[in-house]
Amino acid sequence: MSQPQSLRAAREEHRPGHALPRAFALDPAIYAYELESIWRRSWLYAGAGAQALDPGDFFSFQLGDDWILIVRGETGELHALHNSCRHRGMLICSSQSGRARRWVCPYHQWSYGLDGSLLGSGGMDDELEGGDYGLHRAAVAELGGLVFVWPGPDPEPLGGAAAQLAAALAPHGLDRAKLAHQLDYEVAANWKLVWENNRECWHCTVGHPQYVQANFDAAPDTARVRSLASARAEDHACALMAAGGQDRSAPGAIDHPEPGLFRFPTPGRWWSCNRTPLAPGFVTESLDGAPVAPTMGDFRERDVGTLRIRTVPNFWAHASSDHAVLTRLVPAGPERTLVRIQWLVDRDAVEDRDYALEQLLPFWRRTSEQDWELCERNHAGVRSPAFTPGPYSRKREYNVIAFVQWYLDRLDASARAGGVPEDRQVGEPFDRRAVVGVDGATGKRRS
Ligand code: FES
Ligand SMILES: [Fe+2]
Repeated sequence: MSQPQSLRAAREEHRPGHALPRAFALDPAIYAYELESIWRRSWLYAGAGAQALDPGDFFSFQLGDDWILIVRGETGELHALHNSCRHRGMLICSSQSGRARRWVCPYHQWSYGLDGSLLGSGGMDDELEGGDYGLHRAAVAELGGLVFVWPGPDPEPLGGAAAQLAAALAPHGLDRAKLAHQLDYEVAANWKLVWENNRECWHCTVGHPQYVQANFDAAPDTARVRSLASARAEDHACALMAAGGQDRSAPGAIDHPEPGLFRFPTPGRWWSCNRTPLAPGFVTESLDGAPVAPTMGDFRERDVGTLRIRTVPNFWAHASSDHAVLTRLVPAGPERTLVRIQWLVDRDAVEDRDYALEQLLPFWRRTSEQDWELCERNHAGVRSPAFTPGPYSRKREYNVIAFVQWYLDRLDASARAGGVPEDRQVGEPFDRRAVVGVDGATGKRRS
């Protein structure tokens, strides 16, 4: 699959430091190329490990026509299996989630283990080698309770992401969490416009009146906000020292005390994480700043700021001391983005006793829905034949510039590698599987 002509033309048209030309949001050929060159060749957030706690528990991740089953194996490891029978291609599973003891194809009853290996193919002329006809696998990794899959071939090593994300997430105990609620949205906007919206907070003061009460992301250039943020971070550092003698570089310490967004993406990195202070009066991201659930993980203190994680191309999250909110993007065509928001709380917390959805959801539900509306209006305006891409602000939209650069770099890297070979568009066969651990820190699933 070589780069389509429409992509080459749109690249020519693009002026550095300016918004992307219209074709990047509308053209089906560019979208198809992105799917193969970026989406199928990236670590994608699929779901939370909490969605598959026990052996046989599974959930789905769908990217275009590729339906991947993520299942907890007998010994606690995760497997990611392409949902396509090795006989004649039948979907072996039609459920989005559930529990399986093994996989049995409904067509002619070939059966597979939880790890995808072929167990039975009765009725065939000769007995088949299980290793040769196992379900195609995708690489999967569980980092601090977050599950990432690499849908296509040649998975890249996780590199520094494994250690950094697992360490940053460790005190939050997302691997000891449960899914309290999730909401799905179909946003009528190109996935890159959704990211552009996420990568700047210029729109926050007007667009997110609730969000800006709790965070210092907006108004980065006022001295008052600057000193307030650093004072909050200083308070937090002192509390940490008093509680456990931790220094400022320990996991759990605030490492981004400035207003404004942490710089991301940065070259060569698909992930980043940092912790920011919350505004005075807020110990969590709730509408009034008051706790909304029991503390999670190792936290005893309520006021631990907010841990933020982003991974391109499909994930961002905010985690406070008492809950975490995970946002997953999956494109569904050039003009549609499926968004799932998940709220995690401590596994032992009981709804309507320890937390209530009426308090847990509104902060991020409202903020997210405000964003989807902005994204849809943005996309609708880009659809106009009169649209011409305007300049970005280096002061306010530095991360949007960085995001567009990351995107163009990915396209260029794919072009340098010779495009996307037609014959490499299916997952690796079973005997060449690439499974990348279960937990970045321990190599095991925690109980
Ligand atoms: S297609 Fe699955 S057993 Fe025939
Ligand atoms: Fe926003």
